[in-house]
Amino acid sequence: MKKLVLLAMAMLLIQSVAFAADPIKIGVSFSDFETERWPVEAELMKKLAAEQGVEVVVQVANHDAKLQNDQIENLALQGVKAIVIIAEDGAAAASAVDAAASQGIPCIAYDRLIKSANLAAYISFDNVAVGRAQGQGVINKVNKGKFVLLGGSPTDNNAILFRKGQMEVLQPLIDKGDIKVVADQWVENWAPANATKLMENILTAQGNAIDAVVASNDGTALGALQAMKAQGLAGKVPISGQDATAAGCKSIVEGELTMTVYKDVRLLTPMAIDMAVKLAKGEKLEGLEMFKLADLTLDDKLQGDVPCKFLKVVSVDQSNVYDEIIKSGFQPYDEVYKDIPADKRPPKP
Ligand code: GAL
Repeated sequence: MKKLVLLAMAMLLIQSVAFAADPIKIGVSFSDFETERWPVEAELMKKLAAEQGVEVVVQVANHDAKLQNDQIENLALQGVKAIVIIAEDGAAAASAVDAAASQGIPCIAYDRLIKSANLAAYISFDNVAVGRAQGQGVINKVNKGKFVLLGGSPTDNNAILFRKGQMEVLQPLIDKGDIKVVADQWVENWAPANATKLMENILTAQGNAIDAVVASNDGTALGALQAMKAQGLAGKVPISGQDATAAGCKSIVEGELTMTVYKDVRLLTPMAIDMAVKLAKGEKLEGLEMFKLADLTLDDKLQGDVPCKFLKVVSVDQSNVYDEIIKSGFQPYDEVYKDIPADKRPPKP
């Protein structure tokens, strides 16, 4: 009898040790690791979760929407308790979210919307304001002439919202006849190389006579700038970006990229991890506001609401890149000013 009690106690102890050693897991599914920000945010997520004793399982879909859905399904099989998703294709990922939600695994759409009313949350930046800043940043330099529009990936709902904001600024000038849109393209996968090719073709078709480019992020803008540089247009024709990447800010201080949009992901990432951990523990989320899917997608056919949170964005050009990006530590001074002669650089903060 004594032996039995001892055995039972030993088993209980083993069980509780095993339980303690088994941390909560959350899954994070990335569209790709090609955009500068994503691998950085993945590392930050892992670190923040570890601080809470939570394990992060990261999957990267290499721009393959079907693979991303398989990976999300696989995360569920691995026993994750919540999933953060950076969708390659906001429409395609909806079925993966629906499937996870039906198994009781809450999903957070991170940065990019997924077109599902079963999301536990959608957290991002004010994406229409991003587009507005891009349009405004360019017309601050040139408000007449032949404009090129380079949208982002057509499967990324953000790309649609950026364009909405850009057009809020440009449309009145187009209506007045001051601006003529001579090319309107979307850059598949947000790939810089695709932007270079598109811009080469546009420049050929227009005989290099373009006055401004509204590009939708730093990666594609720098891609387009390569083609513009080859024609002597870099630094002459204004062009917008987004993300305040190190390379983008370097191009700004060198006078080629006109502006970028600073989205402080150091605020978004902790929010995602905190929410995912809460959801994983079965707790309620606070501070979210309901938005209609139809409004978030500009598509009246979509039904349902999603709890959302949107962070502010800051427009950055040569005048404030130092204050906003360098002083805040968002990008390293040494990288941004790498090719600026020492006597022309601002002091190191
Ligand atoms: C968007 C995102 C941008 C940019 C782009 C390319 O959805 O909001 O910050 O990085 O994707 O990945």
